[in-house]
Amino acid sequence: MSAFSIFAAEQKTSDSAEIDALKKEITKLKKSAYHPELGEQMLGIQIRHARLWFAGEAQNWNLAAFELQELKEAFDAVVEQNPEHAIFQPQRLADILPAMTKGPITALRDSIDHSSKPEFEKAFDSLSAGCTGCHHVAGNDFLVIQRPKTPILDNLQTIATPPSKK
Ligand code: HEC
Repeated sequence: MSAFSIFAAEQKTSDSAEIDALKKEITKLKKSAYHPELGEQMLGIQIRHARLWFAGEAQNWNLAAFELQELKEAFDAVVEQNPEHAIFQPQRLADILPAMTKGPITALRDSIDHSSKPEFEKAFDSLSAGCTGCHHVAGNDFLVIQRPKTPILDNLQTIATPPSKK
């Protein structure tokens, strides 16, 4: 073996040792990282769900698209942070959540793309049914999600502002 290839072999060993050490470190960090409670995450989702409704009713499609995206990200965070939540065992939250919400989210996105209030309302109800369906699977039949009637917060304008005249 040339001096160079010995050097290269040693370098490889130390690289893989370093990678192993980093992998261990990442596992440790993941364990100690902040894992929000599912109930806490649901409160955020509840607010987005309500805002989405009022945006759609006002036919403020930009706001509706924004709230839908936020809702989708909040669902993604639930899957990422609570993939094996005990309440669904032996089933996996990471499988159940997308199954319950993917179709309605796509339908909502389409309704927003079409600027169609009737389509939006139908898709919104199917999303709410998905929320309630998942609560049912979790054994929480008393958590029934419906169309909101009153905005909880009214400091975010729902009506689209007309573009300012130049
Ligand atoms: C993965 C399945 C799942 C989906 C989908 C889901 N939830 Fe939940 N939700 C739960 C579980 C489980 C709980 C109970 C959490 C707990 O025990 O802390 C819950 C709790 C809640 C609560 C009660 C929170 C509280 O502290 O009062 C609300 C409100 C809620 N969800 C709203 C929604 C809305 C709105 C949607 C749909 C936009 C939705 N959820 C979709 C599983 C789900």
